[in-house]
Amino acid sequence: MFVSNNFLSEGCVKCVGKTAKRFVSMVFAALLGFGGLMFVGAAQAEVPNVVPPEGSYSGEDVPQPIEFPHDIHADVNEINCMYCHTYARRSKVSGIPPTSKCMGCHTVIATDKPRIKKLTEYWENKESPEWNKVHDLPDFVHFTHEKHIQRFVFKNEGMDVENVSEVCAFCHGDVKSMTVAKKMKPLTMGFCVRCHEANDGPSDCWKCHK
Ligand code: HEC
Ligand code: HEC
Ligand code: HEC
Ligand code: HEC
Ligand code: HEC
Repeated sequence: MFVSNNFLSEGCVKCVGKTAKRFVSMVFAALLGFGGLMFVGAAQAEVPNVVPPEGSYSGEDVPQPIEFPHDIHADVNEINCMYCHTYARRSKVSGIPPTSKCMGCHTVIATDKPRIKKLTEYWENKESPEWNKVHDLPDFVHFTHEKHIQRFVFKNEGMDVENVSEVCAFCHGDVKSMTVAKKMKPLTMGFCVRCHEANDGPSDCWKCHK
């Protein structure tokens, strides 16, 4: 309902029903104990037509000017990753949302919470929090979000845009569950090249090194 003027607005009307469904499955999980949780886990959306990349990394929490909880936004409130990271589908970078986007909701939501007070202070001072980078490839590597999001989401038959976070997770891990964003995938040359080999991506050195 707060996510208006956007291609995702319709999707968010559905959120209400989905939240209710989630609640029901949580109750079931609680009743069934661990087995129930396993079932909910197994029911997670999958991305069709892809061999997922292999490899993991356990990065540290990156300190931020305001601790931003991805879980509350992307999981509990089911806000699509691309509502905030709007450029992912059409450019090299995904982009971090400007404070104005936060304020679209936070002029009315949770205004009494300390972190939102701090955010409001930035906004009133016409400043933006200086978010620290979590992922940072060396400058000699060329990467682009667009090609990957187009291939695995928009040009992928049978893929539902609502599940885009599963594609982001290939390279960023389960951001949806994070209270603080951290690096969870190695993003080394081997990691990239093996996924290209498995999914007919380009293998020429100069595609990734310009
Ligand atoms: C309400 C807006 C919002 C939503 C929705 C959102 N993000 Fe973010 N994201 C942010 C902000 C703000 C930051 C910067 C703070 C940080 O890094 O913790 C960020 C940071 C990130 C980073 C780290 C960027 C870096 O510095 O390397 C990744 C990766 C990321 N988001 C992925 C996702 C994914 C995947 C989803 C969906 C599951 C998602 N985000 C949903 C606002 C959002
Ligand atoms: C194929 C791997 C891959 C996929 C898929 C992917 N990313 Fe990234 N992402 C990266 C890499 C690599 C970087 C670091 C780029 C750099 O340092 O130049 C990055 C950086 C970022 C950043 C911080 C810098 C920027 O680009 O603005 C954000 C935010 C981000 N990703 C969000 C997302 C979201 C949201 C999705 C899903 C819609 C996604 N990513 C899907 C590999 C990926
Ligand atoms: C589409 C609406 C929406 C947008 C956009 C949004 N948020 Fe939120 N945010 C929420 C909701 C809903 C909550 C949960 C509020 C609650 O639990 O009372 C929340 C909670 C938070 C919290 C936790 C507050 C606390 O202490 O409990 C922080 C911090 C936060 N948001 C920061 C941000 C930042 C920074 C941005 C912009 C990058 C942003 N939000 C954008 C809806 C939004
Ligand atoms: C999930 C598997 C996967 C992962 C992980 C992945 N890629 Fe890709 N990448 C692909 C596929 C498939 C394509 C071809 C997309 C197309 O052309 O439709 C591609 C395309 C590209 C392109 C575009 C080349 C061109 O045609 O201009 C670049 C650059 C690239 N990848 C770099 C990287 C880098 C760097 C990494 C690691 C940080 C990485 N990729 C990780 C699957 C992956
Ligand atoms: C799919 C993308 C991709 C392709 C194709 C690729 N590389 Fe890389 N390469 C990377 C990434 C990502 C890194 C950075 C790794 C890191 O930071 O750990 C890297 C790093 C390197 C480095 C620095 C190694 C080091 O130890 O720091 C060299 C040299 C290199 N690549 C050469 C090549 C050559 C030669 C080819 C062709 C045979 C090639 N690369 C093809 C993604 C790629």
